[in-house]
Amino acid sequence: MGPMISLASHMHAMKARSEKVAMLTAYDYPTARLLEESGVDVLLVGDSLGMVVLGFPDTTHVTLDHMAHHTRAVARGRSTIHVLADLPYATYSTPHTAVASAKVLIDAGADAVKLEGGRSHVPQIEALTAAGIPVMAHIGMMPQSVLTEGGYRIKGKTQEEADRLLEDAAAVQKAGAFGLLLELVVPAVTAQITRSSAIPTIGIGSGPDCDGQVLVTHDLIGMFPWFTPRFVRPQAQTASDIKRAATLYVSQTKTSPGSAE
Ligand code: KIV
Repeated sequence: MGPMISLASHMHAMKARSEKVAMLTAYDYPTARLLEESGVDVLLVGDSLGMVVLGFPDTTHVTLDHMAHHTRAVARGRSTIHVLADLPYATYSTPHTAVASAKVLIDAGADAVKLEGGRSHVPQIEALTAAGIPVMAHIGMMPQSVLTEGGYRIKGKTQEEADRLLEDAAAVQKAGAFGLLLELVVPAVTAQITRSSAIPTIGIGSGPDCDGQVLVTHDLIGMFPWFTPRFVRPQAQTASDIKRAATLYVSQTKTSPGSAE
């Protein structure tokens, strides 16, 4: 099964009636099922999977094969919820490669793709839109640029940076993006972009004034205890639960074998 209407129409309708979009990341079958059953609006197969699932230091190690593999697992777990998948690092340098890479993710079960970039990626967004592939743009802090940027930094602190972000937002909308993700953007700039955009904005670490929010599920459920972004308040301690259950199993197995069965 799959969604009845397109992700773009769904999110636009939500913006029109001022209903916030609740998006979370999913990288596997059980998480997709659990999040859909919890009423989440959109699943993002984020390339954050590189860090929180595959153990890489950043997202530049994630390949199109990784993304397709995890998108297929998520698609098997969803019933009618929309699935958005990230185009990974260096797979959309030209309009042609953007369309070819996006087709792999759509074939794997994604309803739409996300790419990092603003004015710099207008040709890619136009090509994807012309090919009938819905695309969301991701601006502000763009994790795939961490090596050139030298870290994860809040964007929009200076007037010049705020102006560039507003220009990026207008450019991707004009190019055909159906939505805009704002990561680590100063809240006042986020609010200005959200007010001036016809397309829905989804924020992460960018304040409350967006049309929706997204979080990395592992951060929300306390599943990646070695690093939690400052803007996340974990609502579960999954890592502690796993350790408690495994520690108990180890001690039961060693003291009275079979008693944990
Ligand atoms: O990869 C991801 O999970 C993302 C979020 C940071 C929004 O793009």
